[in-house]
Amino acid sequence: MSERKQKRVMRMRKICIINQKGGVGKTTTTVNLGVGLAREGKRVLIVDLDPQGNITTCLKAESKKDLYDLLVENAAVGECTSHVMDNLDIIKSKETLTKAELILVGETNREMVLRRKLDHIKNYDYILLDCPPSLGLLNQNAMLFATEAIIPTSTDILGVDGLNKMVLALQQINEVFDHSIMITKIVPTMHDARNRVCIESLKKIQSEYYQVVSDPIRINAKLKEAPSEQLSIFDYDNSSRGATDYKNLVKMVVRDEAKYDQPAARASSRIAIKEAMV
Ligand SMILES: Nc1ncnc2c1ncn2[C@@H]1O[C@H](COP(=O)(O)OP(=O)(O)OP(=O)(O)O)[C@@H](O)[C@H]1O
Ligand SMILES: [Mg+2]
Repeated sequence: MSERKQKRVMRMRKICIINQKGGVGKTTTTVNLGVGLAREGKRVLIVDLDPQGNITTCLKAESKKDLYDLLVENAAVGECTSHVMDNLDIIKSKETLTKAELILVGETNREMVLRRKLDHIKNYDYILLDCPPSLGLLNQNAMLFATEAIIPTSTDILGVDGLNKMVLALQQINEVFDHSIMITKIVPTMHDARNRVCIESLKKIQSEYYQVVSDPIRINAKLKEAPSEQLSIFDYDNSSRGATDYKNLVKMVVRDEAKYDQPAARASSRIAIKEAMV
């Protein structure tokens, strides 16, 4: 590959990590994908859209201001951003974000507030949004800012049901707002290869959504322990199964860069997802 080609400026990827079902690994995936990408030299911004503020439970963030100040108090993006490590910044949240959601309800174009606040940002390769378990206004804002969705899903019956509903919700957002968010990865999480329900659920997910389904993230206690030290899985136990699985996910997401950087590929991929859903 020529040097000129290697240095091609990549289009910034705006990805929401979303599933309206709770406890399926959204935050765990956002943190470890974000840190994993940063370790690969990608410039990453993680935005915590969840009033539970779990991102700051997982990673240390120093800034005084947060997403509430950005959305409601007109604070500048820089004031609300914390530098976590080389290539990784965070805009954190806390419970006040619930109040922001109530305030935003009264605004015109209330679904586009996040887009208005973040659209001028140019100095990252990836913006990852950790979404709350709902389909409320904050998540509508996330889906309308992002051009890609990664859906973590547990490999059980309720997980498959939640996944199907999430895919429909994304389709509806595209239709109602004439938007074009794509599902670029469905990530089966907390997978136990010895469990019959897990095996069957994974098969179901793979047969319905084939090419966008990543390799599963296996159940691993180290992933549960890492946040107690405010560390990513790579810094907590780099030889764990959790680290191996998230490194693999990082590789798959990076591999997709060329594919989702082309306008033509964007369109065809969207059709493929629609076909997979019918
Ligand atoms: N592969 C895994 N193996 C074991 N535990 C995991 C795994 N992935 C996530 N967990 C644990 O499961 C719990 C829920 O994960 P997480 O907080 O990432 O889900 P979430 O979808 O963000 O939840 P919420 O909907 O509340 O935001 C956490 O305790 C997390 O440490
Ligand atoms: Mg979460």
